[in-house]
Amino acid sequence: MLASLRAMNAPRIAIFDSGVGGLTVAHAVHAKLPGAHLRYLGDTARLPYGTKSAQTVTRYALQAAAALLSDGARVDALVVACNTASSCALPALKESYDFPVLGVIGPGARRAVAASATGHIGVIGTERTVQSGAYEQAIAALNADAVVHARATPLLVGLAEEGWCDGPVAEAALHAYLRPWLADPTVARIDTVVLGCTHYPALKAVIGRVFAEILGREVGLVDSADAIAEELALRLPDATMGEGRVELFATDALDRFARVGGLFFPVDRAHLALIDL
Ligand code: DGL
Repeated sequence: MLASLRAMNAPRIAIFDSGVGGLTVAHAVHAKLPGAHLRYLGDTARLPYGTKSAQTVTRYALQAAAALLSDGARVDALVVACNTASSCALPALKESYDFPVLGVIGPGARRAVAASATGHIGVIGTERTVQSGAYEQAIAALNADAVVHARATPLLVGLAEEGWCDGPVAEAALHAYLRPWLADPTVARIDTVVLGCTHYPALKAVIGRVFAEILGREVGLVDSADAIAEELALRLPDATMGEGRVELFATDALDRFARVGGLFFPVDRAHLALIDL
């Protein structure tokens, strides 16, 4: 009786992403707030968001969130796990709901500013996230003297989805992206790098290693999944203990979602359902 009352009152967190990558965020949130009920939607029918225009990403994000929340159940926070959607659709999403809507850019920016000693901060992400300038804006609001260097590294999304989270292919792709970029002496001053895409925490080890190989020293890596989980734990302290429910939804290709998503978060195929947008 008491247990079911506690379960009913447990904080409810809805999370959406363009696909499976946001499961890295679900993983971090579930680890920090095991008592919360999590409901996750991956918009696998329309992935990737990272190559699309801001208008299209905003339209998709609004539709995905509306579908995830369509049963009218109580929600304590909506997390936009996708960096791309966070970078351009957050204002429209915030306007649509009267409960907290949190993106991953703010928490990642706060961590990066706190961690950087040189004030030169690197950001890697999708084309849309980099073009949006969202990290530059968020970081400038916290420290007007900080200098942000952003580089689109979109191939890393496919590598993570292939399960090639380390090894020669990931190393070669990173060298191809990072060597020409870091050859610029101003960019080479970065001491902190934001992993500005849902998939990148899965490649954290190889990303750190290749930066160190090129620069001859370590850089700090900011995991935006961990950063948003920490922020949620401050807002919903009741959820930091207990055992919440996890419900997973995708808009297409459930078997692929279970197989690839399983690299980032334990996916129980029996608890995965289709939402048709
Ligand atoms: N979820 C996206 C992000 O974090 C990466 C995948 C995509 O391009 O949709 O930016």
